[in-house]
Amino acid sequence: MAKLGVCYYPEHWPQNRWREDAAAMVDLGLSIVRIGEFAWSRLEPSAGNYHWDWLDSAVTTLGEAGLQVVLGTPTATPPHWLVKQHPEILAVDADGQPRKFGSRRHYCFSSQVYRDLACSFVERMAQRYGENPHVAAWQIDNEYGCHDTTLSYSPAAAAAFRLWLAKHYGTIEKLNQAWGTVFWSQEYGEFGDIDPPNLTVTEANPSHQLDYRRFSSDQVVAFNYAQAQILKRLSPGRDLIHNFMGFETSFDHFDVSADLDVASWDSYPLGFLDRSWFDHEAKTRYQRQGHPDFAAFHHDLYNACGQGRFWVMEQQPGPVNWAPHNPAPLDGMLRLWAWECFAHGGEVSSFFRWRQAPFAQEQMHAGLLRPDGKQDVGAAEVAQVAAELASVELSDPVQSDIALMLDYDAIWNLEIQPQGREFSALRWLFEIYQSLRERGLNVDIVPPTHPLAGYKALILPCQPFVSEELAQHLSAFPGKVLIGPRSGSKTQDFAIPAKLAPGPLRDLLGITVVRVESLAPENLEPVQLGNGLFEAALWREELETENRVLASFAGDFRPGAPALVERGNFRYLACLATKPLLDKLTSDFCNWSGIEMASPLGDVRLRRRGELQFAFNYGSAPADSPAPADAEFVLGSRRLSTAGVAAWIVR
Ligand code: GAL
Repeated sequence: MAKLGVCYYPEHWPQNRWREDAAAMVDLGLSIVRIGEFAWSRLEPSAGNYHWDWLDSAVTTLGEAGLQVVLGTPTATPPHWLVKQHPEILAVDADGQPRKFGSRRHYCFSSQVYRDLACSFVERMAQRYGENPHVAAWQIDNEYGCHDTTLSYSPAAAAAFRLWLAKHYGTIEKLNQAWGTVFWSQEYGEFGDIDPPNLTVTEANPSHQLDYRRFSSDQVVAFNYAQAQILKRLSPGRDLIHNFMGFETSFDHFDVSADLDVASWDSYPLGFLDRSWFDHEAKTRYQRQGHPDFAAFHHDLYNACGQGRFWVMEQQPGPVNWAPHNPAPLDGMLRLWAWECFAHGGEVSSFFRWRQAPFAQEQMHAGLLRPDGKQDVGAAEVAQVAAELASVELSDPVQSDIALMLDYDAIWNLEIQPQGREFSALRWLFEIYQSLRERGLNVDIVPPTHPLAGYKALILPCQPFVSEELAQHLSAFPGKVLIGPRSGSKTQDFAIPAKLAPGPLRDLLGITVVRVESLAPENLEPVQLGNGLFEAALWREELETENRVLASFAGDFRPGAPALVERGNFRYLACLATKPLLDKLTSDFCNWSGIEMASPLGDVRLRRRGELQFAFNYGSAPADSPAPADAEFVLGSRRLSTAGVAAWIVR
């Protein structure tokens, strides 16, 4: 059963308002409320001086009104007294500066002192509320990685990194070998000599950097695990959740999610449109909607992280405060975003926040209520979704035909040595996702080891390190596979494989990549594909191959060189692509895989959930959904208004 929720900060409002707020939430059709995630200074105003009374009454007031409470552990905001007593818990940035108190997320994941303090607070909190009948779930911490906080260069991090390396490599000789430290006389005599890879004169050794990314990710996992263990023990039967972010790749979200029951994420489509890589045209066209694939992409990603269980913990309610510009969503957009979450299989869509705060950092961030406590425009849309939910029966989500592989380690690898400034693994992956979604497909996102049974096709957009295990996994897959450039181009230690790229994929693909080059964005490379002339961008590879060549480079430089080759059920792409080339590649690939695509949908997006086909209009003009003539609609109709939603039954 899909539910609606909201984020609430009882500590921001007089206690005599709580009952009225709780009743108003229920009236609106909300059934979930998240509280507490930043409230440490009110729960423990000085060391060991606990004030649970107010939280007791908040939980009771909300619970008795009929709301299920998600309790946040407030460990993203260690209070001032704690920092004063233990300044060593602060994170240190890449310039070597401690990150000061005065906002949030100032702790270092590697500080054992902080981990112990956080855990002992969580233990007490869980002892008090673990079995509370109103507490349905826990949110652990808040938005790991937000404000660039995964990587810290503190003394605690340096010490923990050395232990991590010693465990990983065993001997310093192995590390020297793996990192290639003979280069530039970087050889180390013992693990204790190794520092984090910051403040070096020029680029630090890439293997060193990659290990630091892996280590830092493991520290997030360990921090989360420590709290999860406490909550599992003291609050049995409650879902453990973390709220992940948009386009955040600084740690492995699959690894963190392994210790959670539900992966949730915080969806701010307008803010992320403005602050991400999208071009001027997209930023103008979708300023009040967000990019049509942004929310969908993260729903599918976090659905994979949560192994089929995801929520939106925070949904944009109106203008936010933190993007370069903060427009208001189109009327109807909150409703569309909520329905889109449910269409992708989301269990809960929860809005951030109940009432706009008139003070502090986020005073310009809208809520469902205005600062004066009256309803803002979003509230009516939420009420509409609640009413609609009562009449729409949602069946179980189905597996898609096509899967797209996302590997955090691959993203770090390419960030460390992009080789061309604009080369972005995440952006490339997103553009492939977009291209498939523009033709109406459901797309599953999968981690590298994910079982592939039931899929007709798989795309690995760009996977520098391919393990033997992954190579075997791929060779056992009977479906069609499209493999993007730079795949198999690095060993686990960040070196070029002895027999060159694609490393362990060599036999499967029947190619050797003998040379690569990156290109400035304006220098496009013509590519002949079938009868059409298209353009590659940013990246080009030279292949040695006996394979069937499906597309070749067609400019002045080495014309006829292969750009897309095929062997068995594998295709390898030797470049990055401009949009028309990418669209042609994905449509040819789906055709080859026996996957039927819709005609290009413009600003409309589709999502199938069980026997319901949803359609969403992201455009700024009304549009038609591609429903069959005799479609039986359970929501909306063929004609989609701006921000319109429709759903019909597919028999
Ligand atoms: C999220 C965060 C919230 C709030 C919100 C504002 O990143 O989890 O606490 O800051 O953004 O949009």
